[in-house]
Amino acid sequence: MVVSTQLPVAVPRSGFLPGPAINARQMWANNRFWMETQNLVTKRYGGKRKQHWYALLLAVKAFEWGLKRCGQYERGWRNATRIVLRDVELRFDRLPRAFDGFSVLHITDPHLDGQPGIEDRIVELCRGREFDLCVLTGDYRTELHGPIRAVMASLEKVVRGIRSKEGFLGVLGNHDDCHMVAPMEEMGIRMLINESVVLTRGGDRLRVLGTDDVHYYYTDQSLHALEAARDDFSIALVHSPELFDAAAEAGVALYLCGHTHGGQVCLPGGIPIITHLNRGRRFVRGVWQHQGMRGVTHCGTGTSGIPVRFNTRGEILVHHLRSKAAAQK
Ligand SMILES: [Fe+2]
Repeated sequence: MVVSTQLPVAVPRSGFLPGPAINARQMWANNRFWMETQNLVTKRYGGKRKQHWYALLLAVKAFEWGLKRCGQYERGWRNATRIVLRDVELRFDRLPRAFDGFSVLHITDPHLDGQPGIEDRIVELCRGREFDLCVLTGDYRTELHGPIRAVMASLEKVVRGIRSKEGFLGVLGNHDDCHMVAPMEEMGIRMLINESVVLTRGGDRLRVLGTDDVHYYYTDQSLHALEAARDDFSIALVHSPELFDAAAEAGVALYLCGHTHGGQVCLPGGIPIITHLNRGRRFVRGVWQHQGMRGVTHCGTGTSGIPVRFNTRGEILVHHLRSKAAAQK
């Protein structure tokens, strides 16, 4: 059962004629659309600046050309298509007993327009399994601007092909735009735009909260969303690990993110060359701990920039939540 807990709307005080409530989603969408169209990047501690993509695109093209010249492009492409599904067990002291064994399918960074047919590979890997919940932590497309219809059609194939008892929860990444929210909700994904929902089992509660992307589109609304974590055992969905300290301080128990692709193109031993993180670079991949909070940085399902991987692997994760108390009985 899902109990929706939308952010409060601002209603005029008495003494004034009641006017239309200010909708937090609409405020967010206006601001997000403005940032997207102006190519603005906002960071938690870094202010606001115009992003010029030419240098980055040129570097990506040069790297692609170099890979083809030295005959490594095909190998990198094959590596990128070898996506695996991995089960991860996560133990918690204070997990509500009714959620012991709760399974969370975690897909992130599929970049569905980056590799033809990747949506079919995702469905194939999940075939024959049923999950308690499916969470999506952003970057559904590769392009930063432009049409979304083809990507949304691919995403709908994924949603239709996966069995999830509590349905689908999602957040946006830095490659996604605000126009994706409506079609994603129409296909059955409950989008958490600085919002949270509560799942209940008997008298036990588990809260899942989600923020907008904080890598390009940080606003203080993401911190407000984290404040709900104090009330329950809470899972935070954030596109990147860059909000780790605020989430731990807010009392989040589990932080699920992606964005880094585990480095995507790494040196032998999985040493990343680029992490695409402004903060929290030590959380580039895998399971980690920060103060009382557990975190998982997913290596990403797809690829960004060039559809190749070296010394990393695309993945789909299934997190199994376990109660330490139940295990000791
Ligand atoms: Fe990203």
